[in-house]
Amino acid sequence: MKVLVTGGLGYIGSHTCVQMLNAGMEPIIVDNLCNAKIAVLDRIEALTNIRPQFYQGDIRDETFLDDVFSKHAIQSVIHFAGLKAVGESVAKPLEYYDNNVNGSLVLARAMRTAGVKSIIFSSSATVYGDPESVPITESSSVGATTNPYGRSKYMVEGCLTDFYQSQPDWSVTFARYFNPVGAHPSGTMGEDPQGIPNNLMPFIAQVAVGRRDKLSIFGDDYATPDGTGVRDYIHVMDVADGHLVALNRVGQKAGLHIYNLGTGKGSSVIEMLDAFSQACGKPVPYEICPRRPGDIGACWASTEKAEKQLGWKATRSVLEMTADTWHWQSKNPQGY
Ligand code: NAD
Ligand code: UD1
Repeated sequence: MKVLVTGGLGYIGSHTCVQMLNAGMEPIIVDNLCNAKIAVLDRIEALTNIRPQFYQGDIRDETFLDDVFSKHAIQSVIHFAGLKAVGESVAKPLEYYDNNVNGSLVLARAMRTAGVKSIIFSSSATVYGDPESVPITESSSVGATTNPYGRSKYMVEGCLTDFYQSQPDWSVTFARYFNPVGAHPSGTMGEDPQGIPNNLMPFIAQVAVGRRDKLSIFGDDYATPDGTGVRDYIHVMDVADGHLVALNRVGQKAGLHIYNLGTGKGSSVIEMLDAFSQACGKPVPYEICPRRPGDIGACWASTEKAEKQLGWKATRSVLEMTADTWHWQSKNPQGY
């Protein structure tokens, strides 16, 4: 199966491409390298013995996309490409809406031109905002987003929903990721944030490897067992596998399909820190700081729908998430 993978050299995209190649699928990668390095392509090749077809270009360039579609008999699209830093989105909302919303619209138009009617869109648990209750199901209310990044994801879901209503023979899937972490177990691929990491796991990893002094824990006064924020961390390899299952199960089935990709289990910041210390064999220094604006206390996924309808469930433990992150970070202290 030939699948166009936008943002395929990014963190989640690259792991998904490896799993696709291992399963005999053919990813055709499009990436403008605004947040990825070309070295990722070599790592994918080293792991799979296959160098996937790669086109460097921007999804907002319709002529470029038309050209890629004309060269391959593409059956489906997995759409990872986008900007994802919450703080940056507050400073640069126009850039975020242009890349994430406009980029998705241009992509959908190029798909329509090419007659490709199947898309899996990388959405986020951020569309649920501060949940009324946990676990969060796919029918929990959405839209109370607190920043331009989150709003851009919600807007793309809205645009693609309207588009699907007009084209009911399409297969449109929203994969709402919770907190993807971890790395390929080989230690050759992982998350490589530019600048100071915004997210918990890459920050802990950079403290452990000596690139940063200590972790700031943003608040210990939430209504959670130890007071620190609770999230549903999911191994990036599980996220990758979830895409393969979605492609096979609903990728060719007309409909609007919405799935949470999480584990169904929440872990606190302190629990993640403890697990990481165990993985790297030393304590990771931290200090308690005030809450981060816009943060919520606790959030984790209901996994029932994905289990029932896709027959899919995340299998990797928190210890594997931290061990694989450490393996990657310690082998590649400066990233790619
Ligand atoms: P990433 O930044 O590592 O990957 C995104 C890739 O898209 C990068 O390689 C980047 O160069 C490319 N890209 C960005 N804009 C592009 C454009 N206009 N044209 C072509 N390529 C472009 O991010 P990731 O963590 O792999 O996330 C993938 C997707 O999943 C994103 O849409 C993100 O919003 C979503 N998501 C991620 C998380 C997470 O925690 N990582 C959580 C929820 C949702
Ligand atoms: C963040 C984004 C969310 C995005 C997701 C995945 C915010 C408000 N939300 O989610 O929109 O979809 O990343 O990219 O940024 N923490 C610390 N110290 C740190 C970093 C984090 O204590 O240095 C804590 C946070 O307060 C939180 C937990 O760790 O309780 C997880 O944080 P993070 O990894 O940033 O993910 P989210 O906040 O869930």
